Amino acid sequence: MSITIAIDGPAASGKGTLARRLADYYHLAYLDTGLTYRAVAHRLLEEGGSLEDEAAAVDAARRIDLGNLNRGVLSAHAVADAASRVAVFPEVRRVLVEKQREFAERSEGAVLDGRDIGTVVCPGAEVKLFVIASPEVRAGRRLRDIESRGGRADFDAILADIKRRDERDTGRADSPLRPAADAHLLDTSEMTIEAAFQAARGFVDAAMDANY
Ligand code: C5P
Repeated sequence: MSITIAIDGPAASGKGTLARRLADYYHLAYLDTGLTYRAVAHRLLEEGGSLEDEAAAVDAARRIDLGNLNRGVLSAHAVADAASRVAVFPEVRRVLVEKQREFAERSEGAVLDGRDIGTVVCPGAEVKLFVIASPEVRAGRRLRDIESRGGRADFDAILADIKRRDERDTGRADSPLRPAADAHLLDTSEMTIEAAFQAARGFVDAAMDANY
């Protein structure tokens, strides 16, 4: 059957890892929608444009090709913060959401992760997960992630960044980060990746059974 899995949650909640594992396990297409907002921000930064320039951001959004998103380049820390600034523009969101919906519709089943998948992009998704973890746990994960790749970072600076991005993402007027009414809440603060994956599998298997 063709199933859509919508996964939302704040930065470093573990939603990306979970989304990739579910996509692998159920053989579904996967789209990290955060990369689309990051790509818009990255283009503006590269072209020397201002992050406040809505028209330039919309133009950049129109030129985004979902098949050509470079995770390596886009995962930079500065790009994440810039992404949350261009993500407040309603017209940028409209353009990107249209591309994300096309992806979900043309795929034979898909997993999408982001902030507004269950509420806006795929409100009809068969399974919706809202993944959370405390800001401190998320900052700790980010720090270990950076250190495991040989980098250095400061816990307090990461924590402040995470909180700032949370505030921007939950506080914006258009498509704020919030759980859909029918989303399953998954708090991964005290969970291993494996435990979170098993819990998510339970929800997906139940939805598959219900749809047959
Ligand atoms: O998920 P990621 O950290 O890559 O997202 C970067 C930023 O893009 C988020 O902080 C958020 O502001 C924005 N975003 C969004 N809606 C999505 C995905 C990401 O507003 N569906």
